[in-house]
Amino acid sequence: MGFTVLYALGFALSALAAKCPDFSDYSMEYHAPFSSGAYNLSYMRPAPQCRTFVSSDVDNTVTRLKSIIKDPDLYRLFQNSFPNTLDTAIKWKGHANGSDEELTFVITGDINAMWLRDSANQMQSYLGLLKPSTSSNSIASLYRGVINLQARYILTNPYCNSFQPPKESGIKPAVNGAATGDTVKPPYTNSSVFECKYEIDSLAAFLEVSFDYFNATKDSAFFGKYSWVKAVNQVLTVAEDMMTPTYASNGSVNISPYTFTRMTTRASETLENDGLGNPVQQGTGLVRSAFRPSDDATIWQLFIPGNMMFSRYLDACSEIARHLQGQSDLADRMTILAASIKAAIDTHGIVDSAHGPVYAYEIDGYGSTNMMDDANIPSLLAAPVYGYLDANDQVYQNTRKMLLSTSNPYYMRGPVINAIGGPHDGPGFAWPMASIVRILTSNDDAEISDVLKGIVNSTDGYGLIHESVNAWNVTDWTRQWFSWANGLFGQMILDLEERKPEILSQSFQPSKGNSYSHRH
Ligand SMILES: *[C@@H]1O[C@H](CO)[C@@H](O)[C@H](O)[C@H]1NC(C)=O
Ligand SMILES: *[C@@H]1O[C@H](CO)[C@@H](O)[C@H](O)[C@H]1NC(C)=O
Ligand SMILES: *[C@@H]1O[C@H](CO)[C@@H](O)[C@H](O)[C@H]1NC(C)=O
Ligand SMILES: *[C@@H]1O[C@H](CO)[C@@H](O)[C@H](O)[C@H]1NC(C)=O
Ligand SMILES: *[C@@H]1O[C@H](CO)[C@@H](O)[C@H](O)[C@H]1NC(C)=O
Ligand SMILES: *[C@@H]1O[C@H](CO)[C@@H](O)[C@H](O)[C@H]1NC(C)=O
Ligand SMILES: *[C@@H]1O[C@H](CO)[C@@H](O)[C@H](O)[C@H]1NC(C)=O
Repeated sequence: MGFTVLYALGFALSALAAKCPDFSDYSMEYHAPFSSGAYNLSYMRPAPQCRTFVSSDVDNTVTRLKSIIKDPDLYRLFQNSFPNTLDTAIKWKGHANGSDEELTFVITGDINAMWLRDSANQMQSYLGLLKPSTSSNSIASLYRGVINLQARYILTNPYCNSFQPPKESGIKPAVNGAATGDTVKPPYTNSSVFECKYEIDSLAAFLEVSFDYFNATKDSAFFGKYSWVKAVNQVLTVAEDMMTPTYASNGSVNISPYTFTRMTTRASETLENDGLGNPVQQGTGLVRSAFRPSDDATIWQLFIPGNMMFSRYLDACSEIARHLQGQSDLADRMTILAASIKAAIDTHGIVDSAHGPVYAYEIDGYGSTNMMDDANIPSLLAAPVYGYLDANDQVYQNTRKMLLSTSNPYYMRGPVINAIGGPHDGPGFAWPMASIVRILTSNDDAEISDVLKGIVNSTDGYGLIHESVNAWNVTDWTRQWFSWANGLFGQMILDLEERKPEILSQSFQPSKGNSYSHRH
């Protein structure tokens, strides 16, 4: 092609791109072609020239599943949701200034910021397609960019959960109106941090995405090249510092490495005791977490699912450290801490209940326990999903029965969908994400079909996974563009394809006589 043709083509493409609607708006409208099932689901993929990253492996998977998923509405849901992170959330991809270090800025969806937890999970949707590649167009490159950028974030602000675009991207920082009245120690600047809630699972997420990349590619050399080792050392320092109990043995109040208060009307958005949180007993061996994976404050800071996930991926990532020259001490430090946290969970995190011994959601070490689960991962329900234990584990099975019953204060029931929710969206709001986790942790065909029906029934015609849905009113939902939940739905369908392909041949159409008007 001659220069003028290329120029004209480039011009035409950028003119098209300029017309790309913001996905926040696009996802609030219905788009033809509609699915042919009773739910009449919208098509929700942006036009090809508007997608933020194109992977032929992902597109081929979407096409391949067309002949495997027999129900037209279930297929439409997969077709829209599985590619959603690549289609909409890879806001920028490039290199660190003056370096060959790849960086990937992945937004959570409707908020223009990158969460450590969300971005690790957004990548995990494509784990099954991750293979070694040096190409910048590959899933492997996306992973490397996320790991490098997360390492940078952790090195600059290890107590924060959500971050601004890297300077190299030239993208303007997003304004967080909710955070303007925050008082946080250690302090941060709003040009690099979007929100600074300290959550143990954010650090675990960095380890998770690292291990996922390593295990699929065996590319240990990558981890020796940039800041990964430094970031892991930082993670260990934070974890050890956050094992500090509230009082020293002599009764003096220990200085907390982290405090947070916010001007807010929501109890779950700020911490007791002027930002310290509720007191934590000494000697449990568990790591404190000020906030949960919902970004709500913990009630008792010894948050069991976060400790489970952290222990699991700390142990897994010690294998990476062992491959790196001169890092065997680091690897030992990782395995030792992982094992001691696991022992602490066994000692302090298991309590008696009407369902037998079960895992508590949170404890304080004084004897107070919070018996509940929240949909966000890491949850108790998801313990087998993040590999902490086997789904057949007896204590897990007891816990699962408790969580999926009226014994869990955040188990929502209603005609639309039955699922665990949480205080983030409040009573009545079931989270499809928890339904997805329920399927991932079930071997019972009837349970899986039933729960999947609830998900298909809960999209209000949009064909995307909402954050939460009123269990009694399908038109009342939160977040239309929640990239992680979309990816997780796709991941679950691919898991079913391997484990239970017959379920993907079933019908998910509503039984006759019911009314399904989901149009506003
Ligand atoms: C499907 O939904 C669209 C958008 O609301 C509507 O225009 C169309 O008539 C519906 N089709 C059927 C068969 O209900
Ligand atoms: C990149 O590095 C150059 C040279 O040090 C500096 O002038 C420039 O401001 C840097 N750009 C960014 C985005 O950090
Ligand atoms: C950062 O804080 C300053 C001072 O409060 C404010 O003027 C600015 O708008 C904030 N920037 C962002 C991106 O929130
Ligand atoms: C590592 O990857 C292999 C091959 O994909 C997979 O079978 C195995 O479950 C993974 N290991 C872990 C611990 O996730
Ligand atoms: C109490 O114990 C703490 C922590 O060990 C120590 O820093 C502090 O100096 C002690 N205070 C007194 C009065 O002994
Ligand atoms: C779907 O939700 C409607 C209420 O919106 C309810 O009447 C119906 O029973 C549900 N169908 C299934 C299959 O869950
Ligand atoms: C269902 O939710 C919608 C959207 O919030 C609201 O407008 C409507 O009144 C609700 N319907 C009922 C029956 O509560």
